[in-house]
Amino acid sequence: MTKLGILEGSLRNASLSRAAGRAAAGLVPDGMTAVALPNPGSLPLFNQDVLDEGMPDSVAAFMDAVDGVDALLIVTPEYNWSIPGGLKNAIDWLSRRKPNPLSGKPATIWSVSPGLLGGARVHEGLRHTLLSQSMLVMATPEVQIATAKAKIDVETGQITNADTEAFLQDHLSKFAAFCH
Ligand code: FNR
Repeated sequence: MTKLGILEGSLRNASLSRAAGRAAAGLVPDGMTAVALPNPGSLPLFNQDVLDEGMPDSVAAFMDAVDGVDALLIVTPEYNWSIPGGLKNAIDWLSRRKPNPLSGKPATIWSVSPGLLGGARVHEGLRHTLLSQSMLVMATPEVQIATAKAKIDVETGQITNADTEAFLQDHLSKFAAFCH
């Protein structure tokens, strides 16, 4: 059984990408279970001085949660053509743990945007950062959920577009195969 950790790139409650991440838990194939990791908004800004005084409880809980999964699905918006700061901060914290809880784990990325490009520009930079942690990134097929307001209901947490849901389900099956 592969335990998939879903890491959210958005901190806000009415987040489209967070809703997509929650929906992913219901789309995983047999042989995979999914769990939402603590939201990056629960973490302080990385500061070596803070770490030197002792690992904050919220960071320790986040690291333990990532330790406990076999693979990561990162579901995120693109901010200014790049990685949202909260998500990058979360990865920076994880990178300080020894052994590194990201190293050697498979990862895949879903980007989500109300715009037409679907957050496509977050992929390259995020892949680059994940590779710096020796993650095994499934580069293709990529998932970009464009015009997401028409496809995701944040109230119910459902994917409301049947083609999108089928595409995401198929992607998770491919990722499950990649994890083996
Ligand atoms: C955005 N947004 C955005 N969208 C996009 O497609 N490309 C971009 O570069 C950006 N940049 C950006 C920067 C900042 C600071 C904000 C707040 C927003 C819009 C963004 O995709 C939109 O607000 C999403 O709904 C955010 O994702 P969540 O919170 O709904 O998951």
